[in-house]
Amino acid sequence: MTTIIPVTGADPYDVIVGRGTLATLAEQIGPRAAKVLIIHPPTLAARAEALRDSLSGYQVLLAEVPDAEDAKRVEVAAFCWQIMGQSDFTRTDAVIGFGGGATTDLAGFVAATWLRGVRLIQVPTSVAGMVDAAVGGKTGINTAEGKNLVGSFYAPAGVVADLDVLETLPRNEILAGFAEIVKCGFIGKNQILDIIEADVDKATDPQSHEFQQLVESSIILKAMVVSQDFKESGLREILNYGHTLGHAIEHAERYRWRHGAAISVGMVFAAELGRIAGSLSDAAVDRHRRILSSLTLPIDYPLGRWKTLLATMQRDKKARAGMMRFVVLEEIGKPTILNGPDESLLFAAYQEVGV
Ligand code: GLY
Repeated sequence: MTTIIPVTGADPYDVIVGRGTLATLAEQIGPRAAKVLIIHPPTLAARAEALRDSLSGYQVLLAEVPDAEDAKRVEVAAFCWQIMGQSDFTRTDAVIGFGGGATTDLAGFVAATWLRGVRLIQVPTSVAGMVDAAVGGKTGINTAEGKNLVGSFYAPAGVVADLDVLETLPRNEILAGFAEIVKCGFIGKNQILDIIEADVDKATDPQSHEFQQLVESSIILKAMVVSQDFKESGLREILNYGHTLGHAIEHAERYRWRHGAAISVGMVFAAELGRIAGSLSDAAVDRHRRILSSLTLPIDYPLGRWKTLLATMQRDKKARAGMMRFVVLEEIGKPTILNGPDESLLFAAYQEVGV
């Protein structure tokens, strides 16, 4: 069954979720485009070629870009611009981002910047890509100074999430992607937590009904948030739950940890902070640990790394006017912002996570 989830706002679009939805790609590209550039990582080369062959009526170009974060470099964007320049890619042509979150971030940036913006269709091929990166219009690349420092908010014309493409994904990739699904559960979709707790194996099996339900619920939450606050001037910040410490861990691990693993620890830290600095109950904090552990995601980190993590968080671009900001929960489903907490509170929360 296919579900269409609308994202509203100045540039509305649909997220099409289901099995076999890649067959609708030509509809998303539309009749105006003559050329289509598919940006994909090496691991999806054969699938990208199959996609090219299925898109009759267009001149389809392929841009193979490095895997994961290595794709998000200005040299890689320049490689894509070069292909577009050399093939006279016009403003009515279309870019397809076909890959995980890093690929769709790069493809979005390339589409946003070529001729000041061409049609973009995101085709995420990872769980985190489907429920987070490809939805919401954040695009960008990294610089030597940090992640996502260059980019733009640029809405795609459509997102095609085909659950069939997840079936060959290694299980640890699926489980890492579940960190973003769990995040949606804690910040607003309680039923996500119930479904995972009821049967974690079924919940994480890409062929199960529950899996589709979880992906859809997460996208519905994200669509609701970004429809109200596209440029993260308020509500959208809740999507950063677990990400402030999570990003610092990714940085400390030189991006060798999966994003989901880092934000898993980050969510336990945020839960402890919500308990120590606010009103989150012990039971709710325990629930974080139980659910994330059931997904074999990490829930602790070396205590001795605190100073390094703190320094990175202080530099994080989400710091506002010198203040560190954390998304915490008043209770499950009720996120709020903790602005400029005392370092002693942060350390007290970290001590609960540190080993
Ligand atoms: N990944 C968080 C957001 O899209 O705002």
